[in-house]
Amino acid sequence: MNKITVVSPANIAFIKYWGMKDKDLVLPNNDSYSMNLSHCVTEIVMERYENPEIKEVFIQEYTSNDYKKDNGQATEKVCVFYNRVKNFLGIKDDYGFRIYSKNSFPKKAGIASSASFFSGLALTFVTGFEKKLDTKQLSIVARLSGSGSASRSIPDGFVHWHKGTDSNSSFSESCAPPEHWELCDVVLIVSQTEKKVGSQEGHEGAWSSPLYAERLSGIEERVESVRKAIETKDVVQLGTTIEADTISMHAVMMTQKHPLFYWSHKTLSLLKKICVLRREGLPCYYTIDAGENVHVIVEKKQVKELVSYFARQGEVLDIILNSPCVGARQI
Ligand code: PMV
Repeated sequence: MNKITVVSPANIAFIKYWGMKDKDLVLPNNDSYSMNLSHCVTEIVMERYENPEIKEVFIQEYTSNDYKKDNGQATEKVCVFYNRVKNFLGIKDDYGFRIYSKNSFPKKAGIASSASFFSGLALTFVTGFEKKLDTKQLSIVARLSGSGSASRSIPDGFVHWHKGTDSNSSFSESCAPPEHWELCDVVLIVSQTEKKVGSQEGHEGAWSSPLYAERLSGIEERVESVRKAIETKDVVQLGTTIEADTISMHAVMMTQKHPLFYWSHKTLSLLKKICVLRREGLPCYYTIDAGENVHVIVEKKQVKELVSYFARQGEVLDIILNSPCVGARQI
């Protein structure tokens, strides 16, 4: 038996990925941009065995101190992904594993826990097969997990996922290292409840929304705006664009054939408070993934003031303060 330990961050999308053109290859309909989150990470420890029959997954919940054996659901997904990695690498021989996974943040609550988990698992499995891939190839492997956004947790800092036209051209790369910009993502936790409908099911309904074509028609302009805002460290341009993109994605979600309402009244209440703070002169901007928790993007120089304000708000159960960080790493 040997042991491999990997740590991988979640990421917050500045331009969201919603809807895909190829479900098997996980090819998105648009490019997306994100930032890795320093304090929302998954640690994966894999014990690797010669006996390929051993395939077990243990998960430590955010609120617990012990690992519990998974009831089969996660293990099944992990095994499917293991086989995809094996096929990608063109390897015949199998190995067995016990995977131990723990998060520094609540899972399935709009903080990209599947991105940190599957990006970490991509690096773990590839290392388990005694292979080394460059960042581009590893981001492709992570994308094939089914959680496409996992691809963005492989490179460092600020990341661009190119939608591509086929598997080899749909990859993520860093557009700026973590130290490029002292930008923070302050995650306001309003609930730790796991969402009922996951992103992967949600993506499939994107085209059923009458607003989806409209979303895609404006997205290249927003992609370019975010690219430029990161390059020039323009928080106003970044913030304005990410808010527009957030609303556009949630409008699609809410108008799909099976509508997805990820927001709660607490989400909306916090959005309004962010707008008020901004009108009062604090440059802070919201973004929300598939969950009710709210991400606030703000420059480091204003973060203390922002955190002290939100720590006093009744909706907020907990706050996680993130700066940009490196991608998946073996430790
Ligand atoms: O990568 P998935 O299938 O977990 O989907 C991610 C979807 C969003 O978080 C809502 C948007 C994004 O780009 O991260």
